[in-house]
Amino acid sequence: MKKLMLWAVAFVLFISCGQQEEKSEMDGFISDLMSQMTIQEKIGQLNLITPGGGIPTGSVVSTDVESKVKAGKVGGIFGIYGPDKLRQAQQMAVEESALGIPMIFGADVIHGYKTTFPIPLGLSCSWDMELIGKTARVAATEATADGIFWNFSPMVDIARDPRWGRVAEGAGEDPYLGSEVAKAMVRGYQQDDLKRENTMMATVKHLALYGASEAGRDYNTVDMSRMRMFNEYLPPYKAGVEAGAGCVMSSFNDVDGVPASGNKWLLTDVLREKWGFNGFVVSDYTSVNEMIAHGLGDLQAVSALALKAGLDMDMVGEGFLTTLEKSLEEGKVTEADIDLACRRVLEAKYKLGLFDDPYLYFDDARPERDILTEENRQFAREAAARSFVLLKNNNQVLPLKKSGTIALIGPLANDKNNMLGTWAPTGDPQLSVPVLEGIKNVAGDEVTVSYAKGANISDDPVFAEKVNVFGTRIDIDERPPEVMLREAVNTARRADVIVAVVGEASEMSGESGSRTNLDVPENQKKLIRALAETGKPLVLVIMSGRPLTLEEENELADAILQVWHPGVEAGNAIADVLFGEYNPSGKLTMTFPRNVGQIPIYYRHRTTGRPQDGDEFQKFRSNYLDSPNSPLFPFGYGLSYTTFDYSDISLDKSKISEKETLEATVNVTNTGDHDGEEVVQLYIRDVVRSITPPVKELKRFQKIHLEAGESREVSFTLSEEDLKFYNYDLDFVAEPGDFNLFIGSGDEVKEASFVWK
Ligand code: NOJ
Repeated sequence: MKKLMLWAVAFVLFISCGQQEEKSEMDGFISDLMSQMTIQEKIGQLNLITPGGGIPTGSVVSTDVESKVKAGKVGGIFGIYGPDKLRQAQQMAVEESALGIPMIFGADVIHGYKTTFPIPLGLSCSWDMELIGKTARVAATEATADGIFWNFSPMVDIARDPRWGRVAEGAGEDPYLGSEVAKAMVRGYQQDDLKRENTMMATVKHLALYGASEAGRDYNTVDMSRMRMFNEYLPPYKAGVEAGAGCVMSSFNDVDGVPASGNKWLLTDVLREKWGFNGFVVSDYTSVNEMIAHGLGDLQAVSALALKAGLDMDMVGEGFLTTLEKSLEEGKVTEADIDLACRRVLEAKYKLGLFDDPYLYFDDARPERDILTEENRQFAREAAARSFVLLKNNNQVLPLKKSGTIALIGPLANDKNNMLGTWAPTGDPQLSVPVLEGIKNVAGDEVTVSYAKGANISDDPVFAEKVNVFGTRIDIDERPPEVMLREAVNTARRADVIVAVVGEASEMSGESGSRTNLDVPENQKKLIRALAETGKPLVLVIMSGRPLTLEEENELADAILQVWHPGVEAGNAIADVLFGEYNPSGKLTMTFPRNVGQIPIYYRHRTTGRPQDGDEFQKFRSNYLDSPNSPLFPFGYGLSYTTFDYSDISLDKSKISEKETLEATVNVTNTGDHDGEEVVQLYIRDVVRSITPPVKELKRFQKIHLEAGESREVSFTLSEEDLKFYNYDLDFVAEPGDFNLFIGSGDEVKEASFVWK
């Protein structure tokens, strides 16, 4: 045993010596390079530009790209794709600029490259970290085949306000689950070696708290206690950093009065000093310049502020490029400030292997071989099916029988334009599978499918114009709404079952896609009501980039399947689940409110001094006159075609002390007649704390597969680390006392308790 330990120590020493050697080689190389650089060239490395052509997410795009590259005024470019184009651009930097420093090429590869996976919020509902990691790995393989080796993903912003359109891009409301997803994605993109031709550098974004924008309005103010930041909002960024992300992006919003892009406390004290981040920080799109509008001074002042705060690379705005030299002359920044940022950018290039081979990622044979392969499409189909959440299934309407007549109705039932979801600029909507096609692929010969559109996504042309900025997403039919509705109702009357595919267009969520009303648009509601009136079994397939308010739909429909925006294999995956080829296993990662007035609503809330007991109104208790407090569907909720039964929890100890672990075990049985998967969730509640504890906190989960009738023991181990939280002084501590422990799914949990210390 002793020998083994000595070997282990020797191995660790060997590895860390190797790492140190690599680091000092890198430091030497960069110092040498920097000794040859002028101050302008150093500042040039801090400049990230986009020539447009991708999806510009601001009103500015870069000009004069070629001459700037040749003059050494560009550190990186994003928004151009393909080995050919990128090789040409790289040649300009390497062969025509004075020092020949290669550029870094980035893009937003948010949920797949050409093989588009479900939107990240959907993927998170799989609670399957292996699957999520694999989506990132496939994305990295495809993107690098197309010359992109720096990714502006993962977005790990905790989001508890579904009015905010960007909830679609993250993993929902929970810090623990969000951290697990952050790690899986960073590792998926980067693997264990950034120098490999099929790995890409990850960017953890948007530091920080972007998801807490007031009123759910994009880019809006954020102001919160440090305790809440550290306990609830910062963990996923930290997890992404600890997983080794090479880059962090600062957010647009201000954080307690200082915009993130100029916030030294955030970018240096927390990110670097507390979390030990050693990569580089890139701004968001013109977020340095936007500090002018925030009220922090002119371009020179805000650029100096950003650099001093610890921001290394300026995206698109060129404030660094145009003002830092002047600030240096005037003593507002030092050469050491510029050197530090420049070094960090060069280090990233070094770690990516660009100084060994600046053309590593430009192999013309790769796109054909690696992008959108049949295997990747199959995987996208599987990933999509696993992201769906079955919200309701009365009388086992689902799975559908493979016989009889299905009326397939709805504006999203035969649509290609919205399947990919928001932020899929590298995907091609025309390659996606519409639901009608998928149903025909899977249903077999015994099923007759009759289709009617029934309604537009929205009848409002002004609204449609706002949503259609990147191409037609809302297509307003030439026929009057009444005619479409009548056709749909007639089609429905002749069928055995109705499947209505309704919800949001892809660009009704995403960046700058905030909404104040989260209902299914009224004209679609009319359709749903009319379909319900036919008395036929009604299955709603809801597509959306966020939780919608579905109270009425929940009353009217027999079954509801939440499918988000499922990606390139949408139709096939939906059909797989509707017909029971895959038994749905997704669980919500964001609470579904009953109405917008309840927002923000999330499971991990603290309790008030006057908590409501049950859902009945109680005078002088914390509740509403016109709505229950409870959500329509809680975090962690999701049905299956089978049922799972949980035994009581058994704990191996009732009291644990420091350094001891606690093992909690349940027996889970598949009590139905379908094989299926269950996400077994473990929560704790700290009964008494020096700061108000959340009512429950997710601490572990396991996704298990059980055949019909099968039982399995599921065990979780907790230690002191899992009981810790940031107290009033922001110390990370566990406080002795009683804890409750819950295991189950969503709100349906078994309970036990233990004492710590
Ligand atoms: C703005 C978005 O906030 C960010 O997520 C994205 O990476 C950049 N635009 C670049 O496209």
